[in-house]
Amino acid sequence: MNSNFVSVKDFKEYAHSVLPRNSLDYYRSGAAEQLTLALNKQAFNKLRIRPRMLVDVSKRDLSTTILGEKVSMPVGVSPSAMQKMAHPDGEAGNARACEAAGTIYILSTLSTTSIEDVAKAAPKCVKWFQLYIYTDRAITRNLVSRAERAGFKALALTVDAPLFGVRRADIRNKFCLPKHLRLANFEETDSKSTKIQSSKEGSGLQEYVNGLFDASITWNDIAWLKSITKLPIVLKGILTKEDAILARQVGVQAILVSNHGARQLDGTPASIEALPEIVKAVGKDLEIYMDGGVDEGTDVFKALALGARMCFMGRPALWGLATDGENGVKAVLNILRNEFDYALALTGCTSVRDIKPEMVVHESFYSRL
Ligand code: FNR
Repeated sequence: MNSNFVSVKDFKEYAHSVLPRNSLDYYRSGAAEQLTLALNKQAFNKLRIRPRMLVDVSKRDLSTTILGEKVSMPVGVSPSAMQKMAHPDGEAGNARACEAAGTIYILSTLSTTSIEDVAKAAPKCVKWFQLYIYTDRAITRNLVSRAERAGFKALALTVDAPLFGVRRADIRNKFCLPKHLRLANFEETDSKSTKIQSSKEGSGLQEYVNGLFDASITWNDIAWLKSITKLPIVLKGILTKEDAILARQVGVQAILVSNHGARQLDGTPASIEALPEIVKAVGKDLEIYMDGGVDEGTDVFKALALGARMCFMGRPALWGLATDGENGVKAVLNILRNEFDYALALTGCTSVRDIKPEMVVHESFYSRL
């Protein structure tokens, strides 16, 4: 890995230069015109930090607790499917990097490494399992009990994907999972669930999801999920206060505010834009996290000031993985840690508890000047 890589952008540029088209387009794309994809970053850039001076910041503590577990910093890795397309280290390498960084790794249902192999690779990492609900409920039940047995600490139920969004590059590329890889959480003999084959119509992934995922799930199904697990449930993909209130009613423990990396419905708000109404509605009762567009330490600071307890990132970890496997993800996490540490010091904060809402404002705050 090149020692000139000093920002997440450096990893992104390098990853873009080495990944094959089918994988690169799958990783980088948003839905449709990708307006929300751009917005996820632009919305962060419209926020201004109001730093405080003359505070003793010679000692700083970046740690926090998430669902009762201590993590070394408020940045973890979001679930993304098929990580072995980025590098043979795949999900195991990504999880080991999170273990070394002392933060949370969320494993996708659609992983190219099994639940058990990830647990073996990174036994001390705080791991969550991201769940998609299959129409065949036996499949889902099996995934949940395996994640429990393997020591995963929470389920992140993704609620924004009854169908997968329209990702035009994947349709053009007739996206498929390369032949030497498979979705490792399913029986090898069950080619319907383990393979994502190219489809004449377009994206093989879209065909997979439309064929197997249950598009009929509702709030009532959360009770079913609670009945089959003791693990805390994080709802991933909530974007409105109305749904946040329902999430509290059905008794989940946390919400991950997310637009799925802008890969579902184009035109939805940036996650950071949706965050404040959700924090205001239920932030006293539930832990609130966010992902989408986080690739700078100052993004983490901004999200925490707006009420998030933790940030996650999807693509930045993939760019690290594509660049240098496990070591690449470690380097990306280190950059985020360093940048967040600087953000704390240079705003007069010594810990996440010092980050106050008034320290981050929308750019319009200054427009009267
Ligand atoms: C995702 N995301 C995702 N989410 C999920 O719940 N299950 C999944 O399997 C996937 N797969 C996936 C693949 C790829 C290539 C990407 C980029 C994203 C969404 C992911 O968890 C997260 O919400 C976003 O990636 C956050 O945005 P950033 O950090 O990529 O900007």
